Amino acid sequence: MKIVILGAGGRLGGALLREYREKYDITGFNHVQLDLASLDDVREKLGAMNFDVLINAAGFTNVDACETERDRAFLINAEAPGVLAQICNERNAKLIQFSTDYVFDGKKRAPYTEEDETNPISTYGESKLAGEKNVLASENAHLVVRVSWVFGPDRPSFIDAMIKRAQQDEKVDAIADKFSTPTYTHDIARMLPQFFDRGGERGILHFANAGKCSWQEYAQWALDCCDQAGIPLRARTVGALKLNDMTRLRQGYGGQAPWVARRPVYSVLSTAKYTELTGAPPRTWREAVADYITRFYSKK
Ligand SMILES: NC(=O)c1ccc[n+]([C@@H]2O[C@H](COP(=O)([O-])OP(=O)(O)OC[C@H]3O[C@@H](n4cnc5c(N)ncnc54)[C@H](OP(=O)(O)O)[C@@H]3O)[C@@H](O)[C@H]2O)c1
Repeated sequence: MKIVILGAGGRLGGALLREYREKYDITGFNHVQLDLASLDDVREKLGAMNFDVLINAAGFTNVDACETERDRAFLINAEAPGVLAQICNERNAKLIQFSTDYVFDGKKRAPYTEEDETNPISTYGESKLAGEKNVLASENAHLVVRVSWVFGPDRPSFIDAMIKRAQQDEKVDAIADKFSTPTYTHDIARMLPQFFDRGGERGILHFANAGKCSWQEYAQWALDCCDQAGIPLRARTVGALKLNDMTRLRQGYGGQAPWVARRPVYSVLSTAKYTELTGAPPRTWREAVADYITRFYSKK
């Protein structure tokens, strides 16, 4: 099976490339090798290739920058995936497009299903939703996989920033009133091949590790796992911050730039459909985080 991976220099794309390299005939493109903002380039480069599956893990993922660069957000996150779908249709290949929990407004208090109404509250969410629609506009068996709070070894994310701060500072805080579920890139890479089949599942699929947490709970568990693994820390307890503080703090917080975009307060993705299709639920986010820390931090 020939597979093309876009976003190969990113957190998810990097993991997919690493984990599939031995098993499939893989071509990966990073941002420099293929710029999704140049649609002619996309048509030219991918149009000359033959493949069975195209995985788009590339995107304009800086949620705050999307607010100020709206046109660019729509070009990369919405128009480009539409062009990718056309290219796949021409060669009867399957497109797997990654999307986000930020297509929801966060007003619900139970996990969001694939059928739930979308209502993005940020330009990033709007542009990703438009991308989903462009991908699913044709009759072809393309799949949109929505994920949340992605972490993994290929690019630092929230969890790595928290561990680093706990190693440097005596006090760390994280938001305690925003809820979703961390998702390990390794788990995404392991589950995805079940959906490579062109005749298989099409439409939208939610995937995240099981359970739900706040950023504070997520960070606390990461520190607990580090502690257990004997990784030296200066801070062992994560204090509580409020979501409002992040939007109010104009100076930013803990090295982060101040937030511009609105974020959903609750964006837990239901994995009931995934479990029904595959016969097994994803492992819990606590197991996934513990695995990540044992594998990638204990050796550091
Ligand atoms: N991270 C999360 O928590 C999260 C949550 C929900 C959904 N998702 C979705 O999951 C997917 C993967 O995200 P990720 O966490 O792996 O993000 P990431 O690490 O930011 O990866 C995105 C990749 O896309 C590349 N890229 C940006 N602009 C591009 C362009 N114009 N042309 C080609 N490549 C471009 C980036 O390259 P440069 O860095 O070199 O620009 C980067 O390598 C995305 O669809 C994202 O929307 C992520």
